[in-house]
Amino acid sequence: MKSLIKKPLSYYMLIIFVLSVINGLLLFPIVDNVIILIAILIINFCILTLFLQFFNVNHMKPLSKAITILSEINQGNYRVRFHFSGNNIIGTISKEINSLARNMNEYSIQEKMQREQLTTIIENTENGLVLIDEKGYIHLVNRKFLTIYGKTMKEYKGYLYYEVLEEEVFHKTIQNAFLYEENVKNEFTHYEGTEKVYYQIIGVPIFNEKNRLKGAVLVIHDITELKKLELMRKDFVANVSHELRTPITSIRGFAETLLEDDLKNKEVAKEFLTIIYNESDRMQLLIEDLLTLSRLEQENFQLIVNEIDVEGLLKDIIPAYQMKARKKKISIAFSVDEKLKFKADKEKIKQIIINLLDNAIHYTQEQGKVSLAINSTEEYVHIHVSDTGMGIDKAVLPRIFERFYRVDKARSRNTGGTGLGLAIVKHIVDVHDGKIEIDSEINKGTHIHIYLPRK
Ligand SMILES: Nc1ncnc2c1ncn2[C@@H]1O[C@H](COP(=O)(O)OP(=O)(O)O)[C@@H](O)[C@H]1O
Ligand SMILES: [Mg+2]
Repeated sequence: MKSLIKKPLSYYMLIIFVLSVINGLLLFPIVDNVIILIAILIINFCILTLFLQFFNVNHMKPLSKAITILSEINQGNYRVRFHFSGNNIIGTISKEINSLARNMNEYSIQEKMQREQLTTIIENTENGLVLIDEKGYIHLVNRKFLTIYGKTMKEYKGYLYYEVLEEEVFHKTIQNAFLYEENVKNEFTHYEGTEKVYYQIIGVPIFNEKNRLKGAVLVIHDITELKKLELMRKDFVANVSHELRTPITSIRGFAETLLEDDLKNKEVAKEFLTIIYNESDRMQLLIEDLLTLSRLEQENFQLIVNEIDVEGLLKDIIPAYQMKARKKKISIAFSVDEKLKFKADKEKIKQIIINLLDNAIHYTQEQGKVSLAINSTEEYVHIHVSDTGMGIDKAVLPRIFERFYRVDKARSRNTGGTGLGLAIVKHIVDVHDGKIEIDSEINKGTHIHIYLPRK
């Protein structure tokens, strides 16, 4: 059909001419008048030519155009349109072709968008990705993966995975994903500069519609934060055990001696019992601090926020610390705006002040000075505790809020410190959305500023 339509008009004219001649030959025996015969043939020829012309303009040419347009669509040009306004079958064909072109255009736009979205996701995901076919050839590695290994796509694409992936764990993961046809997880470490990064690698087998293995995707993600948390948890358990072991060993030792001595020497017994009492007291403090920290860290922890008046807040604190300071011959000054009222969790704020004053007195020598000031602006309440004590080395300043971190372990223990006071302070300030500033100089003293937003 296509080749017939494509034939030139002269071809059909020739056929008409040949048909007219055959017609003339057939009519020749019937019509004996030659002029009439010629006239019939000419009329016949003219009618057929006119019909051919009409057929050509209305059908052949549009059909030929339709074929050209369909072939363009076939080649992916979906913007072509067929302009034909007739109401006949060609008109219907033209509408259908235009609708086909529009739909194809729409599909191609959607498909392009989906492809682009997929590429954007693959390229911008925080995970490294590698796509491998069932024969083990690499088809795709994303940007994250390339940045981990500092290589280019060319160095991977089209190669067998065991030729270009260096880590042994990759080979094992791929092989097991292929072998067991299920997700396989492994972990490995990789040095980025001097930094050790922990990665988890997951091999995910891919199947086609017939459930046949088609390849595998490797997903690599950074689990360094998770590992650090795990390490911190382990450290924490080790620290707690260590902190508890010291007083328990001491209690046990003194109790044993007392038992052996059968309480004969009253003086010694009293002295040992005092030690046992003090040690158990320290254990209790430690456990209380641990419980406070654990409560603050609980997911559903909620502050009990009420309006606090500073006078009420300091009512019990001031006399107790005046006494403590007097015992150590330290002068203590309170400079607070007693009329000040603000919204916060009263018990927690008390705990902040107690912990800071405790430290100020503990780490200040006799004759030193300690002060507490509470003021406010429109935006925040400012709690300022300062001392003229031993100070803290600048190098370790950022660490003093860590749990169990002490600049001088022996000194902290001797003064009854648990090593958790500032960790608790930091937590309380954090849950109030506040901030802490610390300024300290060795042998000059320490200033701690706490800013709590006024809600
Ligand atoms: N005002 C201060 N002056 C000097 N050092 C301080 C002061 N406050 C805290 N520190 C240091 O920070 C460490 C951590 O403090 P903290 O968490 O309260 O634990 P601790 O129970 O040891 O007091 C202390 O051991 C001490 O070395
Ligand atoms: Mg302390």
